[in-house]
Amino acid sequence: MKQELVEDLRSDAVLPRVLALPRYLQEVYWWAYVHPNAIRVFERQWLVNAILWGNFSKLRDVALHALSPVQGRVLQIACVYGDLTGRLADRIVGTSSLDVVDIVPGQLGNLQRKLAGRAGISLFQRNSVALGFADNTYDRTLLFFLLHEQPEAVRRQTLAEALRVTAPGGRIVIADYHCPSRWHPLYYLLRPVLALLEPYALDLWRNDIASWLPQDIKVRIESRRTFFGGLYQLVVLVRE
Ligand SMILES: C[S@@+](CC[C@H](N)C(=O)[O-])C[C@H]1O[C@@H](n2cnc3c(N)ncnc32)[C@H](O)[C@@H]1O
Repeated sequence: MKQELVEDLRSDAVLPRVLALPRYLQEVYWWAYVHPNAIRVFERQWLVNAILWGNFSKLRDVALHALSPVQGRVLQIACVYGDLTGRLADRIVGTSSLDVVDIVPGQLGNLQRKLAGRAGISLFQRNSVALGFADNTYDRTLLFFLLHEQPEAVRRQTLAEALRVTAPGGRIVIADYHCPSRWHPLYYLLRPVLALLEPYALDLWRNDIASWLPQDIKVRIESRRTFFGGLYQLVVLVRE
């Protein structure tokens, strides 16, 4: 199968041809994802690893392990700098497929270059709050460090969409920030930095991801683990 940036032909939804960028991306994260120089600056494995205090590979690998076996239809909601998607593609079993969505066309173009024509992967310009895929489409869904970037209402809708498109029995894997212990050496340093640069991230310090799950879709929390003194978490949900 060729790798392509496609309109979703399977969707019943009528999608606008040009998707507007959400306000938080334009106002808070323009420098990281939207600015023409963003990819040139941030698309470096060592830099994304440094931003996660040396934990990128660890978190990538535990997320991939939680998705394994990577089979059936797999969805990654939002691109990630570094080699996460390539490693995910490496784990795809047999005739399984991987779809990746992102709202910023430049991010999809960057991913397309990184994947260099690998088979079985399709990229879609989509907003995580309105994915436009049919209910119960996917067997595995990955949200890697997206939720902390979104205002609460958007985050709730992203989770609702992730659950809606994941089939019963399917797994949703979430890696993101979490509140570290007060004794963590970074606790007092990171708080003001996040407040300044990633203002919605502190929501994940204060609240459990479960508090943003939709009420009308049955889901079970299969596991939760924290890493690096509690600064990061991996949550695995199973759609019921
Ligand atoms: C997954 S998050 C953060 C990942 C991580 N910090 C990294 O190193 O790349 C970044 C991606 O989310 C995308 N994104 C943010 N809001 C989105 C939305 N509402 N719908 C789809 N993609 C979104 C951005 O365009 C960006 O490519």
